[in-house]
Amino acid sequence: MISLRDVDKTYQTRDGSVPALRGVSLEIGDGEFVSIVGPSGCGKSTLLMLVAGLTPADRGSVVEVRGRPVVGPVTDLGIVFQDAILLDWRTVLDNIMLQAEVRRLDRTAHRARALELLRMVGLIGFEQKRPFELSGGMRQRTSICRALVHDPPLLLMDEPFGALDALTREQMTIDIQRIWLTTRKTVLFITHSIMEAVLLSDRVVVMSPRPGRVEEILTIDLPRPRKLDESGAQEYTRYTSRIREIFRAQGILSRE
Ligand SMILES: Nc1ncnc2c1ncn2[C@@H]1O[C@H](COP(=O)(O)OP(=O)(O)OP(=O)(O)O)[C@@H](O)[C@H]1O
Ligand SMILES: [Mg+2]
Repeated sequence: MISLRDVDKTYQTRDGSVPALRGVSLEIGDGEFVSIVGPSGCGKSTLLMLVAGLTPADRGSVVEVRGRPVVGPVTDLGIVFQDAILLDWRTVLDNIMLQAEVRRLDRTAHRARALELLRMVGLIGFEQKRPFELSGGMRQRTSICRALVHDPPLLLMDEPFGALDALTREQMTIDIQRIWLTTRKTVLFITHSIMEAVLLSDRVVVMSPRPGRVEEILTIDLPRPRKLDESGAQEYTRYTSRIREIFRAQGILSRE
């Protein structure tokens, strides 16, 4: 689904060039859930933008989605950012339907799909509310529905729970797992939470500080559905400890 080979990305700014990514290679298969963790500023969002075709990689880099080189915005995907970015004058349902409208898709079929997604995230009964009448978690659930309503094969999420409180965040993790188990989309998920990455992913990509490189890729060999209650168990902490160890070696986490 996604293929990155020897990807470099340098931003040109007024103060000179900023190398954001160096020699990143990564293959993501169809239906895989892959998380990216790494220190702030290591190029995680940049990587996501490269895959979405919203910013170009440096010359010599290979970025492919579904076997095609990415040369401009990739339209056959859904993106969820840290903030929900909803239109306040539109209802929840109409915010989701915006995706179908912009793409000129069949209204009736996509309305039914929007309602099905709202049911999946527990928002049935709120479809006629406006965004300001919702909690942060509900707004983010709405933006997840919007990213999925056109049934894209690929879902990109950049710290989608970053602005939520801890409890809502835990619930959203469970919700995302359920959505993934139902839809089996390919997901590229960026997070600062090591536990979230381990709970959700087939593989976790650990990046180095900027300029970001792939430091290590862990395959999470745990049965699903995974439960928050189990996350303290040894099978889980084996992975979380390993990731923390990498960050300690990078000097991102101290040993005390
Ligand atoms: N449009 C831009 N122009 C210039 N530099 C940029 C631009 N976007 C990002 N950068 C720089 O590239 C580096 C990587 O940024 P990026 O946003 O990808 O990091 P990140 O890993 O997502 O960080 P965070 O975890 O804080 O979200 C940073 O040093 C940042 O300053
Ligand atoms: Mg970022």
